Amino acid sequence: AIPPDLRSLADYERRAVAHMAPPCWTYLQEGSGDDITLRENRAAFDRIGLLPRVLADLRGGSTRVTMLGQSHAAPILLAPVAYQRIAHPEGELATMRAATAMGIGMVLSTLASETLEDVAAARAAAARDLGTAPAPLWFQLYAQETREQTLALVRRAEAAGHEAIMLTVDASIKRASFALPPGVEAANLRGTARPAQTAQALGRILLGTPLADAAPRWDDIAWLRGETRLPLLLKGIMTPQDAREAVRHGVDGIVMSNHGGRVLDGMPSPLTMLPAIAEAVAGEATLLLDSGVRRGTDVVKALALGASAVLVGRPQVHGLAVAGMAGVAHALLILRTELEHAMAQLGCATPGEIGPEHLFVRA
Ligand code: FNR
Repeated sequence: AIPPDLRSLADYERRAVAHMAPPCWTYLQEGSGDDITLRENRAAFDRIGLLPRVLADLRGGSTRVTMLGQSHAAPILLAPVAYQRIAHPEGELATMRAATAMGIGMVLSTLASETLEDVAAARAAAARDLGTAPAPLWFQLYAQETREQTLALVRRAEAAGHEAIMLTVDASIKRASFALPPGVEAANLRGTARPAQTAQALGRILLGTPLADAAPRWDDIAWLRGETRLPLLLKGIMTPQDAREAVRHGVDGIVMSNHGGRVLDGMPSPLTMLPAIAEAVAGEATLLLDSGVRRGTDVVKALALGASAVLVGRPQVHGLAVAGMAGVAHALLILRTELEHAMAQLGCATPGEIGPEHLFVRA
């Protein structure tokens, strides 16, 4: 039962607040520092204009794309977002069912409130029930305190049928997390001590704590690359220098992201950095982008500047909070419908036809 006045992701956001406990809502929505980056994530998209083309041949068009050898119904993925049971009792299981119904890829967080095995099983069951192909399922990895612990997660993801590993490198040093409501936990990490907890117990700030000492370094990327045959992506790259370094380490994909404005306040939007990073990567890795994507026209702008696809973070949780699986599926349908309309008005039958010639940068 989707309320009829929900017509955009912003509508879902406005509605979702009433469906979540206030501390959980704050955790979901907050940025870091003074929210400079959080605001910039929207402003960067809004500064770019679009130039329509008329009378183009749109026959046989589609939003479908192939990425890392997998077919996606649209150049849109669900970004890894931790602890989704704070929004709905079915948590990531409902999100996975929605992704499967829509053919949209899902990236499951290390800090998910359902295990990576249960989410993979939910995907298989949903595909069977709906008579569709399973949607792409990738595992977002946070490096753990030891390589053995990290590798154990990778092996579990491989065994469960996850199809790529996305290592997040931007928030390895995190703030103390908020108090999780009862019944919500990091299900994948049951039974392992978290470095954050150890650091707090020592009463130190950051440097010199196990939390900082366990943060991954480039030699860990070389090691991880050698350990798995799954496609490897690094999430949280924001400079051409780091993008080059990532390519040098043999990654298959780069996710440009400022973590939805939740880490270093003052960072630009990844959209602003996209042209320079696309040039640095020069087609040697698949480029994805997140942070602030809320409209089909945002997807078009990212693709025009060189991204292969985008990810959406908070909006999936808004959909989940409002209407569970149906809410996530509907939010994805809205975004894909907007993308199709935008493509049609740009005269693009396929995502591959979207290019910088469709952009208008305001003076
Ligand atoms: C996140 N994000 C995130 N990223 C990640 O790699 N692992 C994680 O566990 C989480 N968890 C998480 C929780 C919450 C509540 C939010 C809002 C975000 C970051 C996420 O993947 C993505 O980069 C941003 O959410 C994208 O920005 P938008 O779409 O939310 O503006």
